[in-house]
Amino acid sequence: MEQKKILMNHETVLQDLTAVFDRFYRDEALVAYLTESIQYSIQAGGKRIRPLFLLETLQAFGVELTTAHLKVAAAVEAIHTSSLIHDDLPAMDNDDFRRGKPTNHKVFGQAQAILAGDALLLDPYLLLAEADLPAKVVVALVRELSQASGSHGMVAGQVLDMAGENQTLTVDQLQRIHDLKTGKMLTFPFVAAGLISQQSDEVISELRRLGQKVGLAFQIRDDILDATATFAELGKTPGKDVVSDKSTYVKLLGLAGAQSELAANLAAAEASLIAISQQTAFRSDEMTRQIERLKID
Ligand code: IPE
Ligand code: IPE
Ligand code: MG
Ligand code: MG
Ligand code: MG
Repeated sequence: MEQKKILMNHETVLQDLTAVFDRFYRDEALVAYLTESIQYSIQAGGKRIRPLFLLETLQAFGVELTTAHLKVAAAVEAIHTSSLIHDDLPAMDNDDFRRGKPTNHKVFGQAQAILAGDALLLDPYLLLAEADLPAKVVVALVRELSQASGSHGMVAGQVLDMAGENQTLTVDQLQRIHDLKTGKMLTFPFVAAGLISQQSDEVISELRRLGQKVGLAFQIRDDILDATATFAELGKTPGKDVVSDKSTYVKLLGLAGAQSELAANLAAAEASLIAISQQTAFRSDEMTRQIERLKID
């Protein structure tokens, strides 16, 4: 099972990831109410963009996908989902809908939502430890994932995001918040693919640059969509950033300014893909297509 080869297409990857979570949380010795609240959010139909970037980057390096790679993909998706459950709490962004459904705390109550989020922050290290990969690679992935998510990454960014409400920040300050709260978790998939496929330090540095550009673009895009998209498109309530007077690129630069920052970061990401394909065997076509899908006309 562990070494089962997986043929990549989006549908099968999404199904396989669902199965990884179903297996991980099906143990009858676990607390049923906890696993129910976890599964409610993690199987709610998120875009799974971080897992897809990881698995696509591995494939671009010519790696044949196995269950071990799905476990790494599940690890990053679990932490991401935990960040959303906590982000939606009344003490944070106070949102009622997520992934097209009532938020976790609306269904299970705040205490349970906090605990479901806690479990989803910690379970990834069991997933990584159980992934059939060389021990050296697992340790490198643990370091990278903890740095992306904890006080060196996403959580620090969330603290600064909250502190930035009702403030006018400089673009540099805002970029730092975006890099931390979103950029680092989106950098993980690219760097993780480099670590798993044992690329050189130079290639891993370029993958990190790629992830930073994609990550920044992704949060700018999220900020633009908050101002322009509908509930049906987002699965979450639009217009929330203005209500909370959040520091966003749209607030600071206007819609057109935010759109041109988005385009500039996506162009830099595409240049990074070309740089990687010049350094090593890397099929960048599918990755380029994925990054182009983040464009907003
Ligand atoms: C939303 O992330 C929060 C941000 C970091 C911008 P996603 O847009 O990836 O949310 P899901 O996983 O598809 O629900
Ligand atoms: C969230 O940013 C970033 C996280 C670490 C969860 P947002 O607060 O903008 O995300 P949404 O718009 O609620 O998905
Ligand atoms: Mg938030
Ligand atoms: Mg939010
Ligand atoms: Mg948002």
